[in-house]
Amino acid sequence: MPFKAPHNLTVVNHPLVLHKLSLMRDKTTPTAVFRQLLREISLLLAYEVCRDLPIALKRIETPVAAMDAPFIKGKKLVIVSVLRAGNGLLEGMLDLLPSARVGHIGLYRDPKTLQPVQYYMKVPEDIAERQTIVVDPMLATGNSVAAAVSRLKEKGARDLRLCTLLSAPEGVTRFHDAHPDVPIFTAAVDEKLNEHGYIVPGLGDAGDRMFGTK
Ligand code: URA
Repeated sequence: MPFKAPHNLTVVNHPLVLHKLSLMRDKTTPTAVFRQLLREISLLLAYEVCRDLPIALKRIETPVAAMDAPFIKGKKLVIVSVLRAGNGLLEGMLDLLPSARVGHIGLYRDPKTLQPVQYYMKVPEDIAERQTIVVDPMLATGNSVAAAVSRLKEKGARDLRLCTLLSAPEGVTRFHDAHPDVPIFTAAVDEKLNEHGYIVPGLGDAGDRMFGTK
């Protein structure tokens, strides 16, 4: 079936993002450079993810005059990293949003049922009152991040966004079907998933490339 992009999918195709992503895709790019590029791209993605955050005016004094200055309204954000590869996106996001709270969620795929099983979760207790950005660089099948978002909703999270680096059409569709209320931000939607669940052309295993484990 041809891919139909959901209305709440944002492809952040800024030339800076595309250039850095192409460097990351190249299999000869070494771990240290891959990591640095991921950090830089995640900052650029965070900029887009935060574009519609609500603003409130607050009276301040500049050295010249008083003014009603715009500040981000409400409680601080929460960034939830889907372990382990989500940690790569998290670091750059925290460069831009240093006061954000951080949550972690870990899931593995049960080899018999093929269903995601949660092995770790720690998120701020007041997540219901915070805007939540879920970070996972590869939206491949979409199963694990869809399960992660379901767990976060069970914990009370209501205002969620998903930020990924690369997506497969199958993952976008699967995630959107499960969570049509959660906007998706990604730098590119690639061609397809292969029979091993890798995004094609993709960049390989994001965790292995950022942590140098293969
Ligand atoms: N996870 C990865 O790290 N890479 C893929 O291509 C798919 C899932």
